[in-house]
Amino acid sequence: MANSIEGSKFFITGGAGFIGSNISELLVGKGANTAVYDNLSSGSYSFIEGLVGKGLKFTKGDVLDREFLASAMKAESPDAVVHFAANPNAKLGKGQDLINEGIVSTYNVLEACRHANVKNIIFSSSGSIYGIAKVKPTPEEYGPLKPISMYGAMKLASEGLISAFSSMYGINFYIFRFANVVGRNATHGVVFDLINKLRKNGSELQVLGDGTQRKSYVSVDDCVSAVLYVYAKSGDRENIFNIASDDQISVSEIADIVVDKAAKGAMKVFGTTKGGWPGDITDNFISNKKLKDFGYVPRFNSRSAIETTADYVLSGKAKPA
Ligand SMILES: NC(=O)c1ccc[n+]([C@@H]2O[C@H](COP(=O)([O-])OP(=O)(O)OC[C@H]3O[C@@H](n4cnc5c(N)ncnc54)[C@H](O)[C@@H]3O)[C@@H](O)[C@H]2O)c1
Repeated sequence: MANSIEGSKFFITGGAGFIGSNISELLVGKGANTAVYDNLSSGSYSFIEGLVGKGLKFTKGDVLDREFLASAMKAESPDAVVHFAANPNAKLGKGQDLINEGIVSTYNVLEACRHANVKNIIFSSSGSIYGIAKVKPTPEEYGPLKPISMYGAMKLASEGLISAFSSMYGINFYIFRFANVVGRNATHGVVFDLINKLRKNGSELQVLGDGTQRKSYVSVDDCVSAVLYVYAKSGDRENIFNIASDDQISVSEIADIVVDKAAKGAMKVFGTTKGGWPGDITDNFISNKKLKDFGYVPRFNSRSAIETTADYVLSGKAKPA
């Protein structure tokens, strides 16, 4: 193994969020020291509360507060920084707040890494950086990269900053381009949205887009396991991996799963446009071949990941919308 996890220290921005809380729990379970830094804007303290004092330390802080972030990181002196804090909403519009949340935040984290002499950064990028790719499933070396959403553009800009800091200051990077992630502690996303709509009106389900959109979903369990698998195994300076399951599922099929579990007989009402929102990638399928060749085989496909998530949201354990 190139990097040990047991006994190492991880500083996790956004560690109280959906994916962040799952990786925090996995790290604590593997015997790592975990410092979560989160402003709780979309995450929840309840997701990590049970781990506080048992290998996890929580600091409420904003990644846009450059000085506080730098001093909090330096005080921990982590072996790796996991940078997951972001506004995860792919339907975002535009504006300075957005640039701050998506790009300035990454710059601040990198500056803090430089001052704290951190050697490894793990970053949550997205398959949205590929835009409307001509090759499916889309491999990591696909280009030119032409995102069609502000969200994708900010992830690509962050990847660029990470690459530059790595080259200039000798920081190893682990960039992961996630497919649509679903599962325990989800606070947003298609299953979450559809179930909340049905809770408000159990006889009719309004679906964004015409339902024919096909997307690749990955379980959060596979997502965080794959991240730590690659981090532990690769000692390379530069690492870029897609994290996705083997297949796609249509939005109409997802609506069927949700209706079947939550409100049998509810009528599905589709939109008239193919995409659900401006910047929606209606046929999104990123390749997991590199990840599998490296030795990590996902346990869930898109359908089983969606079904498990629907069961979780319906169990009442999810954070209220
Ligand atoms: N969920 C997905 O399908 C998906 C897909 C691709 C990439 N990603 C990326 O993965 C990361 C985690 O996403 P998630 O789905 O867990 O979302 P999330 O909203 O549940 O988690 C983000 C966390 O960051 C925190 N945060 C936001 N702004 C902050 C700030 N300025 N300072 C400190 N903390 C801040 C939030 O409180 C939250 O706990 C994000 O970078 C997201 O863009 C998510």
